[in-house]
Amino acid sequence: MQKTLTIKYCEFDSLQELSASDRELIAAAQKATENSYSPYSHFRVGAAVRLDNGAIVTGSNQENLAYPSGLCAERVALFSASNYDNGKHAVETLAIAAYDSIGLEAEASPCGACRQVMIEQEQRQGKPLRTLVALHDGRIREYKNTSDLLPFVFSAML
Ligand code: THU
Repeated sequence: MQKTLTIKYCEFDSLQELSASDRELIAAAQKATENSYSPYSHFRVGAAVRLDNGAIVTGSNQENLAYPSGLCAERVALFSASNYDNGKHAVETLAIAAYDSIGLEAEASPCGACRQVMIEQEQRQGKPLRTLVALHDGRIREYKNTSDLLPFVFSAML
């Protein structure tokens, strides 16, 4: 029997539709692209997470000549958040922004490995980990739960 899965997400036409807190978080993700080390892809990604105490922790993609040794912006930010204040704060929102090699706003969408890390963070904290993706045309996509981003997740050990 064929079955259909529906994924829920929201789209906002511009930053003006977001709260001041979310606008600040997206600005932090855009700023974090400046720390990207991406000499191989020339694709600069920034991520910023809002913790439940209001703090912002950022990350950017860090590449390496041995390609798989590099890490995406989202995981750099999430792993850094685990090292902030002994990791005792839940991650409420993760914002992602990207620029391409000629400085144009580009579009990042969390890769499969990042989604796996995001969903484990969500499960660990027992609260939704919300994601905001800044799209190339200025719109913003919102996923209220990471489970919406990774259906049929591998969770055999959890
Ligand atoms: N990348 C991220 O940092 N986050 C994403 O959401 C997609 C891809 C990085 C990995 C690599 O350094 C570069 O972007 C090109 O794939």
